[in-house]
This record gives sequence, structure tokens and C-alpha cells, in this order.
Amino acid sequence: MSSLTEQASKHPRLHQLPQTHQLKALMTIIRDAETKRGDFVFYSDRVIRLLVEEGLNYLPVVDKEVTTPMGVPFQGVAFEGRICGVSIMRAGESMEQGLRDVCTSVRIGKVLIQRDERTAQPKLYYSKLPRDISDRWVLLLDPMLATGGSAMKCIEVLLEAGVREDRILFINLICSPEGALTMLEKFSKMQIVTAEIDEGIDARKFILPGLGDFGDRYFGTE
Ligand code: URA
Repeated sequence: MSSLTEQASKHPRLHQLPQTHQLKALMTIIRDAETKRGDFVFYSDRVIRLLVEEGLNYLPVVDKEVTTPMGVPFQGVAFEGRICGVSIMRAGESMEQGLRDVCTSVRIGKVLIQRDERTAQPKLYYSKLPRDISDRWVLLLDPMLATGGSAMKCIEVLLEAGVREDRILFINLICSPEGALTMLEKFSKMQIVTAEIDEGIDARKFILPGLGDFGDRYFGTE
């Protein structure tokens, strides 16, 4: 493990899924260049489901008492905050169904950010967000965090829309340590939930060892 990866793995606002054998096996399938598209989609969806479930652990709850069919009171909890999803197009759209499977009728906004050819900086091309997003917790969806340029631009868009930074959860399959650390340094309250922290990025800004272009493999546009 590189020292940067180790540093990222200890960051208090970077939450890695429990590194179970099951998760390792799923990640091994989707990282394998030989994996065909059907399996890539199927196993990515399984990891996305685990990520969304884990993300919900960071939402606030309030005490709630119910009565069981045995007529006995049970001291439980209920989710308190309202949520929405925001996917960073195009790869983040692959995570929308995983969110819907867990949170029925959840509102989902979309943001399209691409590199401006002239300035080489991430530029906002399109955004459509729920009207009441400033009252909600936001699960920001993007499977691959390389430099973090697009995701950080997207967080700026959310903050401009009135979202509280401490209510932003970035849900991600694989992050580079430098991308994650840059993002957590720039924004001091948001949190990241990821499956695995990789070793770094190459000259083309692809994550290593990574899994290649997620959007192309998921949507079949290789
Ligand atoms: N986006 C991808 O799809 N893959 C990477 O490795 C980095 C960004």
C-alpha cells in the first residue's frame, strides 16, 4: 500500500466499505479486463447497492418506539433527514437504480461537467436539481474519483444551490488517494463513502490499478 493510500484510508471523513471476502470477490470481477459487460453491470450493481446501504448509515436518526406483534414496545430509530441523489453524468447515472432500489421514489438531480478545452478546467454544462435541495441530504453519485475535478465542481454547484456541506455524502466505487485527499482538504465537512482506495492515477488521469473506463464498460460504449 502506498503511503498516500494509507493516509487516505485513515482519514476520518473517508469511509471504506468493510473489506470482506464478498466485497473483494465482487471488486475482483469488475476489475478483471476479461469480464464481459453483462457481468460487469451485474456485479457493479451489487457493489453500488452495498455503497448506498452504507451511505445511509451516515444520515441522522431520531428515537422511535413501535409495538411489535407480540404487543411489546420496541425502542428503535427512524431516519430523520430527507434525502435526494445527484448523479454526475454519465458514469454516475449507473448508480441511480441502486439508490432507487433502497429509497423508493427518491428525487434524483443530474449534473454534467466536462473539461473546458480552452482552460483545461472542469466546466458545468448542465444541471437539474430538486427544487428543495437546500433542505435535503445529498447522495452525490460518481463511481470513479480520479483527480476529483468534476466531483469538486459539482460540490460547488450544490453549495451554490444552498446545500449544507455537512449534508453531502459522495458515494463512490473506487477513488485515487490523491483525488480523495484533495477533495477532503478543499471541503472540510462533506464525507466520502467508497468501496476501495487505489494506488494512484496515470498520465491520462485513469485510476491504477482501477478498472478502466467505468462508463464505457457499464453502458457498452467501448
Ligand atoms: N473515470 C473512469 O471511468 N475510470 C478511471 O480510471 C478514472 C475516471
